[in-house]
Amino acid sequence: VGRTEYGLAPVATREWLGYVWVCLAENPPSFEEDVIGDVVARLGDAEAIEHYDIASLSVGKRFVYDVKANWKLIIENFMECYHCATIHPELTEVLPEFADGFAAQYYVGHGAEFGEAVKGFTVDGSEGLDRIPGVAEDQDRRYYAITVRPQVFINLVPDHVIFHRMYPVAVDRTVVECDWLYLPHVVDSDKDVSRSVELFHRVNQQDFEACERTQPGMSSRMYAKGGVLVPSEHHIGAFHDWVNERLGTRRQQAGRPLSPGGPSDGRSPPRP
Ligand SMILES: [Fe+2]
Repeated sequence: VGRTEYGLAPVATREWLGYVWVCLAENPPSFEEDVIGDVVARLGDAEAIEHYDIASLSVGKRFVYDVKANWKLIIENFMECYHCATIHPELTEVLPEFADGFAAQYYVGHGAEFGEAVKGFTVDGSEGLDRIPGVAEDQDRRYYAITVRPQVFINLVPDHVIFHRMYPVAVDRTVVECDWLYLPHVVDSDKDVSRSVELFHRVNQQDFEACERTQPGMSSRMYAKGGVLVPSEHHIGAFHDWVNERLGTRRQQAGRPLSPGGPSDGRSPPRP
């Protein structure tokens, strides 16, 4: 009786992309719909991520960030790109379209293209590491960012994958663990991955500092209506809806986009 009543609590787990995905819910939602569904919604199909064969990659570097901000703020930041031109000088050099401020996760299947003179996804645009063999021609020289709600970011570039997991530890504090994954022989051969790692490490530091600076304002009761979203942030509005739906709350109407906006409003994206 003691073992069954007071033993360890069972949790639902699933292995995918080389990681163990844990769900604490008593009745876990469908992994295919929730987790793989988020990848499909972003990339257009599940096959696109298989090209990177993430489970076969090795961890070349891991950084753990202790961020003094709510996890939802980190998601909102990751999903929009107004801030890119002003706080990510290195990233916008490599991905010039990010300087336009359009969200990378706005258009299904679209990956941001490397700048013409850029050789690799590195802090100075210098040559990267060996390309992952399965990466398709139309995925080469492109960066794809995926938000897997609620806690994972997956960043795909031709020669590595940057994999974030967020652990909310308080209402205003989140631990973010971030892995840089390379082909096993790249890691085993002690090749220098520092310029490769440095690009997104700086992006992380820049983003998390921005989140920390925003947290005090969001802690205010005046922020209770969820802030104001412009049309191009419709996908952030959708994230608010998702959170409210999960929590069974529906009080943040003021956080809706000012107009329908989005691809359905007839405007074409700045690039394909
Ligand atoms: Fe950012």
